[in-house]
Parts: sequence; structure tokens; C-alpha cells
Amino acid sequence: MKIELNKKYDTKVEFDTNLDNNELTYDGKVIKIGLKKVDAEKIRRAASLALKKVLEIKQKEFQIKVPKLDFLDNAVVNSIVEGLLLSNYKFSKYKKQEKIKAVSLITKELNIKTTKIICEATNYARDLVNEIPSVKSTEYMESEARKIAKKLNLKITVLKENDLSRLGMNLLLSVGRSARTSPRLVIIEYLPNDKQPVIICGKGIVFDAGGMNLKPTNYIENMKLDMAGSAAVLGTIKAAAELKLNKNIIAVVPLAENAIGPNSYYPGDIIKSYRGLTVEVLNTDAEGRLILADALAYSVDKYNPKYVIDIATLTGSCLVTFGEFCTGLVSNDDALSEKLYKASLRTYERVWRLPLFDEYQDSIKGDVSDIKNIGYKRGKYAGCITAGAFLERFIKDTPWAHLDIAGAAFWEESRFYTPKGGTGAGVRLLVNLFQND
Ligand code: BES
Ligand code: ZN
Ligand code: ZN
Repeated sequence: MKIELNKKYDTKVEFDTNLDNNELTYDGKVIKIGLKKVDAEKIRRAASLALKKVLEIKQKEFQIKVPKLDFLDNAVVNSIVEGLLLSNYKFSKYKKQEKIKAVSLITKELNIKTTKIICEATNYARDLVNEIPSVKSTEYMESEARKIAKKLNLKITVLKENDLSRLGMNLLLSVGRSARTSPRLVIIEYLPNDKQPVIICGKGIVFDAGGMNLKPTNYIENMKLDMAGSAAVLGTIKAAAELKLNKNIIAVVPLAENAIGPNSYYPGDIIKSYRGLTVEVLNTDAEGRLILADALAYSVDKYNPKYVIDIATLTGSCLVTFGEFCTGLVSNDDALSEKLYKASLRTYERVWRLPLFDEYQDSIKGDVSDIKNIGYKRGKYAGCITAGAFLERFIKDTPWAHLDIAGAAFWEESRFYTPKGGTGAGVRLLVNLFQND
């Protein structure tokens, strides 16, 4: 979609402070969208309503009069553009779908480069999540990572089975043992200065069948989404490099498929992790924490980061707790949690922190191993937190935040500027954090 300045189109959109939010009128000439008690999110939503109405009346181009509001014009323009670019996203690889071709903003000037980059990176993450399981192997994800690195001239390292085995990353190896393509660890470095880097680490389970603890019907259908954390991490480093942010960021992406087959790992297996801790696998469907554990432990040791953030579709528990509207946050660091919370308010990618009491740590202590991969009541109680408690065992004392996007990453219905399917959750949040940190 082209965004233009002061070009005239027949289809016209205006914002109207006499109409309530989400209210819309159309007299055949002008689409009026309600806008009251305005903030950035209300503007994004209003812009998305406008775009959808124009599609409904079968037009491909329109103009929007940018309203004079209490806050900065540039912020208004950018919120409009954000709402437009994110709503105009369609996953069109397998079915052609109507999209808006051009929007002209009637206003003084446009400075929308940053917003464009961030929205495109979000839509890129959505594309990765929406790709079908038969295409989206670990190999496919590696090649996507390589494309980003090549285009932006970033250093990329891919550790394959031999390397992983030499390094002792047996958790990652075990989870991916029975898949059509082998597990691997992708690392992309964006290092514009010589300061201590931050690490972002994303769960990349390209399909989560559950392994031997096979997922049943009604739980397995959307499990191509289980690499959404890795998509968020790739989208974020892509945007950060394109924006030339002055921040050292290392993207760490463990990739595996949690398949069931003759070579699958077993419930009851005890595996020695990269960190040296032995882990009893009481449920092969709690695989995300296993691959993240090795990736976090290895990257924290290797890069000595200022802080590390992992992002993952980790638990059904998080989805049950928050629905699709919120990301679960588990952290050992108040300052980092606060920064993420502030970024969440700015982007409306909301996060909510959960406690990490000692009792949760105690619940993953093993009987015949150092730790086990599910918490108390077979992982049923406080599942989102005990998964976080598990990860905490692998990050040493590094300031760390865990983002569980099990609900936020994939929506079963469309709302405002977020179409159903992959949402790109985490990209705008993390980029916003880095812009302000
Ligand atoms: N990928 C799933 C979590 C998930 C569920 C993400 C629904 C998005 C939507 C994860 O690997 C998983 O299966 N977790 C188990 C853990 C349990 C066995 C302790 C779960 O949440 O049921
Ligand atoms: Zn699982
Ligand atoms: Zn999973």
C-alpha cells in the first residue's frame, strides 16, 4: 500500500469527535469515523475501521483528513499509518485477497519511515507464523533468517546437529530428534557499537504435535503457530537494523519440530542440558522450555548480555489466563519488567507480570534428576509461571524477562488492525523497548 501526501481521491475519510469511538457514518461521499477521548490506540483503531469500510464499498484508494488534535501532529499521522498498514495485511500466498492500494493523507508533512519499517516487520512475522506446516520446516526458518542477515549485512551463525552435540545442547537435540529436518540454533548479531549486547531469544518450534504426549484434536490444529517467538525475534532484529538503532542486539533462535515418530524422545527420559543440569521429561509436550533452556544458557555464557528477553508461545495456561489480549511476563528484574510494561502501554501490546515465588521454583525440583520439565499438579497449576521458573534456572543471574505469547501470537478472530491468524506479537513491543532503552 502506497502512503501519499495531499493527493485527492474520490473516497474521503474524516474523523468526527461528535461520533462515539467505533461509530461510523457514510453518506455516499464521506466516511466519518468517531474519535473521542483520543489516544494513539483509538487512532489506530479508527484508521483500521476506515480502511475496512473502504474495502467494503469496493474501493482501492482513499484520502484521510488528518485531524487537529491535542497532541503532536506527527504522532497522529504515525498512529493513522500504523493502523492502516497493520489492517491492510493479508496472508495472500494461497488465496488472492482484496487490499487497499493507496491512501493519501491530507496534512502538512509526512515523516513515517520508522512506522513503516516497524509495521512491515510485524507483517513479516505474521507471514512466517501463517505459513503452512508442510512448508515451514526448521530448514525453511533457517533460510528466512539467512535472507534477513544477507540483506542487512549481519553476521549469522547456524549451529547444526554436530555443533549442538559437541556443545552438549542435548535438550534441543532431543526435542528435534524425530523431525523431517534437524534441529538447529540460529544466531544473528546486530552490533552497531561496542557496548554490552542484549539478547532476544525466540521459541522456534515449527510444529508442535506434542511428541509422544501427542496433542489431541482441538489442540493440535493451530500448532504451526509455535514458532511465533522466533518470528518476533527475526522481525525485531530486522526492524532494528533497518532503523539503524544504536543498540547491540543478538537474536537467538532455537529451531526444532516436536514430532511423534520412531525416533522421538520419551516421557521419562532424563537429559543432560548444556548448563549441566539434568532434566526429567515428564511430558514431551512441554518442549518449548527445553529448547529455550539450552539456547538461553549457551547464549548467556557466550555473549554476557546486559539482559536477555525470551519470547515464546510457551503455555496453554497463559492463553487460559489472559485470552488473546495480553502477554504473560515472568522476570527476575523489576527495572526490565517496568521498561517492558511502559513499552506495552505505548504500543498497546499489553503485558502483565506474574510472580515468581520460591514455591514455584520448588515445584520443578526433580526426584531422580536436578529438575523436571513440568511444575506441580503435572504442570496444571500455575503453568505459565512454572514454565518461567524452569527457564530461570538457565540464565545464571542475568537480568531476564520471559514473555509468554501463547494467546497474543495467534488470534482466532480479527479485531481492529489485527487480522486473524498470526499477529506479529512482540515485534512492536520489543522495537519500542529498544527505541526507548
Ligand atoms: N506450544 C504449547 C503451548 C501453547 C498452547 C501455545 C496453546 C499456544 C496455544 C506448549 O508447547 C505446550 O504444549 N505446553 C503444555 C505444557 C504442559 C504439558 C505442562 C501446555 O500448556 O499444555
Ligand atoms: Zn508442546
Ligand atoms: Zn510448544
